Amino acid sequence: MSAPREDSRAAVAAELLKWIGQHDPDGSGWFLDEGAPAVSEQVPAPPAEAAAPAAGTAAPTAPATPGKSPEPAAPAAPAAPATPVTAPADDDPFAAECAAFADRALKAIADRRAEQKTMCDLGLADADATGALSGPAPDDPVAALDALRAEVLPCTACGLHATRTNTVFGAGSPRADLMIIGEAPGRDEDLQGEPFVGRSGQLLTKILAAIGLAREEVYIGNILKCRPPDNRDPLPPEVLACEPHLRRQLAIIRPRVICCLGRVAAQTLLRTSTSLSRMRGDVHFYQDIPVMVTYHPAYLLRNPAAKRDTWNDVRKLRALMDKLIS
Ligand code: URA
Ligand code: URA
Repeated sequence: MSAPREDSRAAVAAELLKWIGQHDPDGSGWFLDEGAPAVSEQVPAPPAEAAAPAAGTAAPTAPATPGKSPEPAAPAAPAAPATPVTAPADDDPFAAECAAFADRALKAIADRRAEQKTMCDLGLADADATGALSGPAPDDPVAALDALRAEVLPCTACGLHATRTNTVFGAGSPRADLMIIGEAPGRDEDLQGEPFVGRSGQLLTKILAAIGLAREEVYIGNILKCRPPDNRDPLPPEVLACEPHLRRQLAIIRPRVICCLGRVAAQTLLRTSTSLSRMRGDVHFYQDIPVMVTYHPAYLLRNPAAKRDTWNDVRKLRALMDKLIS
């Protein structure tokens, strides 16, 4: 009798440790923080409720999410990542999937632009409403963005100005290749006037570092520039009032790719009611800019098991960026 009881005690202890690791309030359960998995974790088919392992970029054990891509065996961050990457790239079946995705996405982008050009040529659409965002960038995006910021900070176009502490215009490089779009400022952002500076923001910084990007080289913004009271979802009139600001930011920055964080940002920007899980892993468009979507870091803090899917998403994003920039 005693041996099975010992076994089940050890199993409970192992699950508990895993749970604690995944629920680290600082988000340091982000698996890139933790080296290779312990040998004891390398058992086939963990129970479904154990979810993705928090540790182990090289973990060969995690089952592929149904309908999703296989688990990556190893990250191969293209630029120098802030976090060292442990496993060798040739032990990385997900790399081929990322490359195939990037090729498909490039074709979709070319098709989209050709289609929009035809619409414009036929007089069925005007360039402003379609391809204008990918045209030539302004001569001085830094000055243009500063001027736009000065205009947007005192905005009173919707009711949220009455309850805000600060307008959160956005932050990062005016020449960014990647623009990250969240939902709306939270409490920390409202107090500091900067996007993604709270716990979600710290996790976002780690996610970016995992694909070799520093916060300063991307541009980080939100659908809404002012905090909704009690962090409620944005209301349609607020989105309508605020979206012109985002559109003007995009027209100045002209990122090669947009990444929406979370359901609300994705559904709002893409004008769709499709679920986030169905939108993930594919390329969408805002005018003619390719848009990818992934989980919101606040969601990841509550659901650490989704970090692995996020890792897959951002690796595809990075693969697409590499193709677009090369
Ligand atoms: N959540 C968001 O969507 N945006 C922020 O800026 C911060 C938290
Ligand atoms: N639902 C959301 O609103 N955001 C996520 O990131 C995931 C589910």
